[in-house]
Amino acid sequence: MSDFEAIFRTPAEARQVELTVTSGTVPADLKGTLLRNGPGVQHAGQTPLHFLDGYAFIASARFEAGRVVYSARHVDLPIARQEQAAGRLLARRVFTNRPGGRLGNALRVKPHSSASHDVYAWGGSVVAADLDGHHALDPATLDTTGPAPVNRLLGGLATLSAMPRVDPFTSHLVVYTATPGVLGADRIAIVELDAQWNERARVERSLGVKGAVPHDLTTTENHYIVVQLGMLSVPQAAAGGCTFIDAIGLQAQGARILVIPRRGDGPLRSLPLPPGCQSFHLANAYEEDGVLVVDTALHEGLVDFSRLNPAADRQTSTHAGRGGGGPFIARHTLRLDSGEHRVMVHRQAPGEAPSVRDDLAGRRHRFAYTSVQGSRGDEPVDNAYYWNHAVAKIDCDAGATVSLWDAGPRVHVTAPQFVARGEAEDDGWVMTWTHDLAMDRGELVLLDAQHLASGPVVRLALPAPLPPASHVCWAA
Ligand SMILES: [Fe+2]
Repeated sequence: MSDFEAIFRTPAEARQVELTVTSGTVPADLKGTLLRNGPGVQHAGQTPLHFLDGYAFIASARFEAGRVVYSARHVDLPIARQEQAAGRLLARRVFTNRPGGRLGNALRVKPHSSASHDVYAWGGSVVAADLDGHHALDPATLDTTGPAPVNRLLGGLATLSAMPRVDPFTSHLVVYTATPGVLGADRIAIVELDAQWNERARVERSLGVKGAVPHDLTTTENHYIVVQLGMLSVPQAAAGGCTFIDAIGLQAQGARILVIPRRGDGPLRSLPLPPGCQSFHLANAYEEDGVLVVDTALHEGLVDFSRLNPAADRQTSTHAGRGGGGPFIARHTLRLDSGEHRVMVHRQAPGEAPSVRDDLAGRRHRFAYTSVQGSRGDEPVDNAYYWNHAVAKIDCDAGATVSLWDAGPRVHVTAPQFVARGEAEDDGWVMTWTHDLAMDRGELVLLDAQHLASGPVVRLALPAPLPPASHVCWAA
């Protein structure tokens, strides 16, 4: 098996296993839980799934008193039970069509998921999040307890944010619902929930277009920021001849950053990406001296997800071969009084799934941490999503990579998570899950954010390797 094919293997579960330290010492005062969500089982009966449609698999590593307790579980999804019983894919996914070709998919215009996109901790639960619903898990055992209360916001054709965020200014969970317009334009509702999942604030706006596909979101003191990754051709998707992802384009108003006032009736403002570019993820956003600053990961060209199809189906995407440069960190600035918008693409600052120190969310940051290709392994294309080998520390002000740890061409790394140690912005650990393909060994590694290139300061052996994550988070 090629190294790159290892991501398609079903990972093994583990239940509250104390991890063995293979080098270094786990800091005794480090307390909290690193979580990851990503694809696990990659077949719906006889139907092979695109990697990003694999059924959710959550792993957690709880740090306390110098010990680390690890669990890794499949999320118990009703749709997974139904599909495995039926022996085939029943619900049309974003990246995988149902069997039966055009007829098997026509008019099925609501995208479904396998809950494998993001993970967060809220209301006493760990939550597996994706665009058609969130699923709650017991934080100690990772047993699935049922649908998350946030799902009550869903209805009709609406989708839910796959990547909610905790707002640092209110300590509310912030989510959106996006509702396709039937006669008029699409609408977005941003909703804030308290720790009991009660609604505390709501803002609604028209998106002014049809087919908008929002993804990541974040907050500043006065604005909600949402990334629109592209525009779905609803007729093309409804015709059923291609997947949802292949019906997404970058036409005018297609890919942009949405800036929505948190209070009052002010208009939604739209920050277009450079022509032909696409973004999915935000590093952070903040307001300073009347300027809104938004840092995103930016791809030059429509991202080609076709290589993440199962082997037999790897060439079928209409996006195949259309990927361009990047991803790079890009900085948008918006003068809030005049509306002047500029975007700077930092080609010396590569990486995806960017994140900043958690306590700087919505506030001025300098550093972001990204996963980057690094050493090229045997993956089928350059700069492919998920086949990353390195973790980078980016200076977002300078637009440059400060330091980088490259695990080597036969090691996959996930997106990094920064965990604070001291007051200085970069005083902390950068954590990443790794899979060494040469040894077929999974590890959780801790890097010193101030000396990233020096490599891991702590290595913990996993009982079994984990495939690459979609997203990670730290629950203090
Ligand atoms: Fe995402």
